[in-house]
Amino acid sequence: MIVPVDHFDQPMVSPRLRARLGRLGLCVLSVTPDGRIAPLDPLDGINQLIVSSAIFNDALQEHHERLVQGVGQVIELWPGLWIIPLPLNQRRRRSEDRFGQPLLLAVVWGPKITEAPQLRAICGQNQLDYSAFVARIEPAQLVDRDEAHRLASMLVWMQEDAVEIDRRLSELQTMSQELSESYEELSLLYKLSTNMTINQVPAAFLLDACDELLQVVGLKWFALQLIDEPRLEDLAGEVFCVGTIDCEKSLLKPLGRQLIEKLPSDGAPMVVDDTASLDIPMLADLSKTMLLVPLRHEDQPLGILYGGDKLDGTHISSIDSKLCDSLTNSMSIFLSNVMLYDDMQAMFLGTLHALTSAIDAKDSYTHGHSERVALLSRLLAEGSGLKGDLVERIYIAGLIHDVGKIGVPEAVLTNPGRLTKEEFDQIKLHPEIGAVILKDIRQMQDLIPGVLHHHERWDGGGYPHSLKGEDIPLMGRVIGLADAFDAMSSNRTYRQAMGLDDVLEEITACSGTQFDPDLAEVFLKLNFDSLYALIEKHQDTAKRRSA
Ligand SMILES: [Fe+2]
Repeated sequence: MIVPVDHFDQPMVSPRLRARLGRLGLCVLSVTPDGRIAPLDPLDGINQLIVSSAIFNDALQEHHERLVQGVGQVIELWPGLWIIPLPLNQRRRRSEDRFGQPLLLAVVWGPKITEAPQLRAICGQNQLDYSAFVARIEPAQLVDRDEAHRLASMLVWMQEDAVEIDRRLSELQTMSQELSESYEELSLLYKLSTNMTINQVPAAFLLDACDELLQVVGLKWFALQLIDEPRLEDLAGEVFCVGTIDCEKSLLKPLGRQLIEKLPSDGAPMVVDDTASLDIPMLADLSKTMLLVPLRHEDQPLGILYGGDKLDGTHISSIDSKLCDSLTNSMSIFLSNVMLYDDMQAMFLGTLHALTSAIDAKDSYTHGHSERVALLSRLLAEGSGLKGDLVERIYIAGLIHDVGKIGVPEAVLTNPGRLTKEEFDQIKLHPEIGAVILKDIRQMQDLIPGVLHHHERWDGGGYPHSLKGEDIPLMGRVIGLADAFDAMSSNRTYRQAMGLDDVLEEITACSGTQFDPDLAEVFLKLNFDSLYALIEKHQDTAKRRSA
């Protein structure tokens, strides 16, 4: 049965080959496995008559096996009618198909076509005058056997060449796509790695990362949920959302927890084609398809990144999943660094607390002094509007401001009576001893001004360098005021502690002489609740020790 060329698809003929065959003006037929015949180009009258005849169809079926086996050969179907089977891009065989597999056939006439009884029979069946019909065949249309063989070789080469060009183009396209995807992945990871410093605010880093990912992957939204890990500090249990998501953040938290439980144990990302299948309430209302990617560090879960539905309506691909996996690896490294940094900070502060407690313990009257000075310094620095990083450095400097007392004889430090001039001179060395102790510790260089200058006075009457006014480093002025407050508020061997009102009155009186007047003004307005809580804690500790 002959059908129009567009009546069925011809996957075995590439557009490139079809165009080439068309230019040659050859009669080329595509035969489907079920025996339907379609010419690649419209046929002239004589070819149309032959190809649509039952005689031709039967002959094709009869020689089918030879046609399948004889690719590139010249097969005589009947006298003067040669068929050249061409190679196909793909082969398949189905038992129910009449011809078993598709064929691509070039039909060429030889000089003996006019003698073929089959042609005479076709004319008879169509009530055509045979002589007139044969007279319409132009000699130029006929090729001899040698020419037919040369034509067969050329057609095979042409088909193979077209297939090879298509294959290479397809490879090029795949490579280009892979290159583009790799570029996107590398570009994203590069952006993240350049942002991934410990100085970066972690929440801002994670939000930026999700935002970049949203743009590259093209999902409608992403949510990043972190576990309740205390070492993650502000990030513990936090949820970050980017894109358009129709759900309250508070509702996302329990959702994220349930999704973490659905993740595969091997830590691989998971593409969910139908969220209803996860059986989590409300999830299907959020998105139909979803991508779940675990955040892990050394097999410990840190959280989950999940996002829903592609903006262009396509499926979430394995490439999307791979990209998200790479990015969550970077996020996990960043988070593990945050935890490591937290550990180091805790260890650092713990060491400082232990050190300052050891110093304070030399004198029972100064128990907890360094911690209180650190706390007051922090309050004063915050009250003065200083930035968070500097406030924390001032706190640490407050903790170690008396570290130089290590170099002062214990007998002098614990002398219950009034100090002699020599003893006081020895005490006065402690800021410089402290600076010497710290000078070789790279991470504490910025704390030295606070340690060295916490006994300077605004009017220049302090020590060790008798600096005046704003020549005294700010850190020294802040700690000096906090130190004086705590000294006045604490019992000493030679006097009882002063009450808060008296102390504040003294600070007011000494503003502009001993203390920086601006700092003194801020100090008088501070809320001391956290100081009293600390004092209470110290008193409890002291009671437990004496019990
Ligand atoms: Fe001191």
